[in-house]
Amino acid sequence: MGFSSTYFFYVISLIWLLTFVSNTNAQLTPTFYARTCPKLHSIVRATMAKAIANDPRMGASILRLHFHDCFVNGCDASVLLEDTPTFQGEKNSYANQNSLRGFKLMDNIKRNVESICKNTVSCADILTLAAREAVVLLGGPTWKVPLGRRDSRTASISAANTNLPPPTADLATLISLFAAKNLSPRDMTALSGAHTIGWARCATFRSHVYNDNANATFVASKRSICPPIGGDDNVAPLDMITPNRFDNGYFKSLMAQQGLLHSDQVLYSGGSQDPWVRLYSKSNRALSKDFAAAMVKMGNISPLTGFNGEIRRHCRFVN
Ligand code: HEM
Ligand SMILES: *[C@@H]1O[C@H](CO)[C@@H](O)[C@H](O)[C@H]1NC(C)=O
Repeated sequence: MGFSSTYFFYVISLIWLLTFVSNTNAQLTPTFYARTCPKLHSIVRATMAKAIANDPRMGASILRLHFHDCFVNGCDASVLLEDTPTFQGEKNSYANQNSLRGFKLMDNIKRNVESICKNTVSCADILTLAAREAVVLLGGPTWKVPLGRRDSRTASISAANTNLPPPTADLATLISLFAAKNLSPRDMTALSGAHTIGWARCATFRSHVYNDNANATFVASKRSICPPIGGDDNVAPLDMITPNRFDNGYFKSLMAQQGLLHSDQVLYSGGSQDPWVRLYSKSNRALSKDFAAAMVKMGNISPLTGFNGEIRRHCRFVN
C-alpha cells in the first residue's frame, strides 16, 4: 500500500469509527420503530383505551409511572423491575411503596406488543407511549414521542429515595429536584399539571389539610375523609372538579387555595411560579403547549441507546 492508500484507509476507518460512536449515542426519534413495528402505536392506544374505559384512573397511574421511571437514572423502565431474593428494585422506595399502580396494565401492553413485534420494543418506550396515550385519551394535548430507549439491567432504590419529590417539598426543593434533571421551574409547574388527573392517599395530604392555611370549606371536606390518625389509604382527587379529565382545572384549584398536596399549593403561594399558574389557569392552550414540550424533555432524560441496556422480554425482570 502506498502512502495515499494507507492514508485513505485510516480516514475511512476514522469515519467508520465516528459513525459507530455517534450511533451508540443516537438521538431518540419518533420513527424508530416505523419499519420494525409499524403497528406499535395502535396496539398501545387500543390497550390503553380499553383499560381507561374500565378504570379511568389507569391513565393517571401510567402517567405517574413514566415520571417515576424517568426521574430515577433516566427513562429506562427501571421502575418496573420486581424485587427478587438477589435484586432490589425501586418499588419499595418512599414515593413508590403502596402507591404506584399500572404494573399489570404494562404487562398487558407489553404482551400485546410482543405478540406482533417480538423482542423489538423496549418497556421504556412502551411506558413513554402509554403515558402520552393516557393524556390524549383523557382529553389532553398530543405530541410526537421520540423513541429508541432501551431497558436497564439495574435499578436504584437509593436514587428513587433521593430524586423523587416528596409531597411535603417546598418550592425551592421542587425547583432544585427538577433542575437536577435539566427541567426548568416553568417545566416543573407545567408538568405538575399532570395532577389534573388521578388521586392521592390521605397519608400524602394529611399534613397539608391539618397544618397549612387553605380554603376552609376545602379543608373541612378533606379532613372528613382523612382523619388525624388512620385512614392512610383513603383517597381524594388531585383535581376536585374533573379528576378524570386532562384540563387546567388543577391550576384553577391552586388559585382557589384548594391544592391537595403541600407541593401543589406551593406553586401558588406568592412565589416565583404564580405567574405560570395564573397563565395556565386562564389558558388551556398555553398549558397544552408547555405540558407537551416538558413531557418530551422529561422523556429524554438519560435514555439508554445503541448497545446499552437491553430489550426486556418481560417488563418486570431483566433478561
Ligand atoms: C412536582 C412534584 C411532584 C410531587 C411532589 C408529586 C407527588 C405526588 C403524590 C404524593 C401523589 C399521590 C400518590 C399516592 O397517594 O399514592 C401523586 C399522584 C400523581 N402524580 Fe405526582 N407529584 C409531582 C409531580 C408529578 C409529575 C411531574 C407527574 C407527571 C408528569 C405526576 C403525575 C401524577 C399523577 C398522574 C398522579 C395520580 C396517580 C394515580 O391516581 O394513580 N406528578 N403525585
Ligand atoms: C372556598 O371554597 C368554596 C367552595 O369551593 C368557595 O365557595 C369559597 O369562595 C372559597 N373561599 C375562598 C376564601 O376562596
